Amino acid sequence: MDAAGGAMVLFVAVAMASFIIIHVYGDTLLAMDQYFLVQHDTHHQPKAFKASLYRPNSMFASPMQATSPPPVYHLTSYGADPTGKTDSTEALVKALSDALDGPTNGFLMEGILNLGGAKIELDGGNYLISRPLQFSVAGRGNLVIQGGTIKSSDNFSNGTYLIDLSPSSVNNSLKYNYEFVTLRDLLLDSNFRGGGIRVVNSLRISIDNCYITHFTTNGILVQGGHETYIRNSFLGQHITAGGDAGERNFSGTAINLMGNDNAVTDVVIFSAEIGIMISGEANTLSGVHCYNKATGYGGTGIYLKVPSGLTQTRIVNCYLDYTGIVVEDPVQVHISSSFFLGDAYIRLKSVKGVAIGVNIVDNMFSGSNKGVNNVQLDKENGAFTKIDQVVIDRNNVNGMNLKATVARRSVQVNGSSWLVDFNSVLLFPNLIKQLHYTLEANGNSFPKHVLRNVSNNQVLIESDVPVEANIYITSDQGS
Ligand SMILES: *[C@@H]1O[C@H](CO)[C@@H](O)[C@H](O)[C@H]1NC(C)=O
Ligand SMILES: *[C@@H]1O[C@H](CO)[C@@H](O)[C@H](O)[C@H]1NC(C)=O
Ligand SMILES: *[C@@H]1O[C@H](CO)[C@@H](O)[C@H](O)[C@H]1NC(C)=O
Ligand SMILES: *[C@@H]1O[C@H](CO)[C@@H](O)[C@H](O)[C@H]1NC(C)=O
Ligand SMILES: *[C@@H]1O[C@H](CO)[C@@H](O)[C@H](O)[C@H]1NC(C)=O
Ligand SMILES: *[C@@H]1O[C@H](CO)[C@@H](O)[C@H](O)[C@H]1NC(C)=O
Repeated sequence: MDAAGGAMVLFVAVAMASFIIIHVYGDTLLAMDQYFLVQHDTHHQPKAFKASLYRPNSMFASPMQATSPPPVYHLTSYGADPTGKTDSTEALVKALSDALDGPTNGFLMEGILNLGGAKIELDGGNYLISRPLQFSVAGRGNLVIQGGTIKSSDNFSNGTYLIDLSPSSVNNSLKYNYEFVTLRDLLLDSNFRGGGIRVVNSLRISIDNCYITHFTTNGILVQGGHETYIRNSFLGQHITAGGDAGERNFSGTAINLMGNDNAVTDVVIFSAEIGIMISGEANTLSGVHCYNKATGYGGTGIYLKVPSGLTQTRIVNCYLDYTGIVVEDPVQVHISSSFFLGDAYIRLKSVKGVAIGVNIVDNMFSGSNKGVNNVQLDKENGAFTKIDQVVIDRNNVNGMNLKATVARRSVQVNGSSWLVDFNSVLLFPNLIKQLHYTLEANGNSFPKHVLRNVSNNQVLIESDVPVEANIYITSDQGS
């Protein structure tokens, strides 16, 4: 074995040892930087390194774990009725205000007191309330509300939200109201008296495994702030599994994002007029299944409002089921790897005629042979006039018309002048920005040929003498 080989073996051995160490000791939640520090310090002292890994967990415990565990506020110990028969408003409001006024441990963001992971525990109960669980004070974080059902009573203040993360008294010196609040494993029943959850000007809020129903306004409304993460949840105005007799009358919006940098992942929206409405920037949707209200009945799966500047929304791996996507004046929008069923389509709606930086690629569309285009333009407010970097390509259709910004054709010709019409494929009228063609002449002829005209998406090619030929053309509206 040469020196290099020996070094290689040693390297592999060290790498494997590191791997095993990470694997075995991952449970101790050794932070990566601590890990590398340990590894570095003990590089030439294998025994010391090993010993350091056997340090008791307390060595790594944060100061918080060293003090008392985070408080848990059980609603039943506040006298709430977990059977949902009598009104529990006062108990829930008190538990929430106690939690917000509970022990704190330093700060998260500036001015956000760290409640240390306090939990409001529903213990699987079903609680009736007649006014919102509105957060009383601003500037709190690291709190969990979990594990049960909250329902609006018949006298619930209509138009408000069951859980409202907007302070009843605003603190103007705070940049954000709340940070790192987790709403988890909740069934929220708005009883047709308003919305489910409202999050105002907050940071890093998780809504996880929630079932939100019977809302009339929004299932979830996010206003300002950023990073509200909505995941693994189910929302519907009516509890149904499709083909509902009342579908025409579905109203409300399941998720309304009026802010930036939020994510909706692995969410099903089973009834609402609009599944997800977005009017902020840099939001991302993934794994969302919308069958909220069929387009034919006036529903929309995902609606991206006209941007104030940029849309910057990514929609990936979603399932639009009889309901489509509407995008107003897209500016940086990416839609890919999604499935559109039941003649569902993507509609680009002109407001000021802008479409810049649009990728609609690698999607599948399935319809019922009614001649519906998979991507459409809504020119009610005028045509698109600023079109740049729009790529609609590599989608496939089954029983629908394929529209794209890139069209490829091969035609057999015999003569000296050929007009090839791309209007059945190209999305934008009268726009070919790039064009390539190849003429393959039969026999031994060497005809001269020339591109004469591309206006109105019609490509005119002529040759000096009549030829029998194949012409291959790619026309592109994109760049
Ligand atoms: C408002 O927030 C500041 C921290 O930024 C805090 O010092 C002050 O006590 C808060 N005011 C109220 C009324 O909570
Ligand atoms: C709401 O109704 C409940 C009974 O369902 C009752 O206990 C409660 O007092 C009512 N609240 C208001 C504000 O009317
Ligand atoms: C609540 O208000 C909405 C509109 O604001 C209305 O459609 C709904 O019927 C009201 N719900 C009840 C129970 O009054
Ligand atoms: C839908 O609403 C209309 C008008 O409010 C009503 O006449 C109709 O019966 C409703 N349809 C269903 C199926 O609920
Ligand atoms: C091409 O056109 C010429 C003249 O019209 C005709 O004689 C010839 O048969 C055509 N060739 C084919 C393959 O159709
Ligand atoms: C190109 O074709 C259009 C009709 O599609 C015509 O109006 C225009 O004059 C043509 N341009 C040239 C240079 O021939």
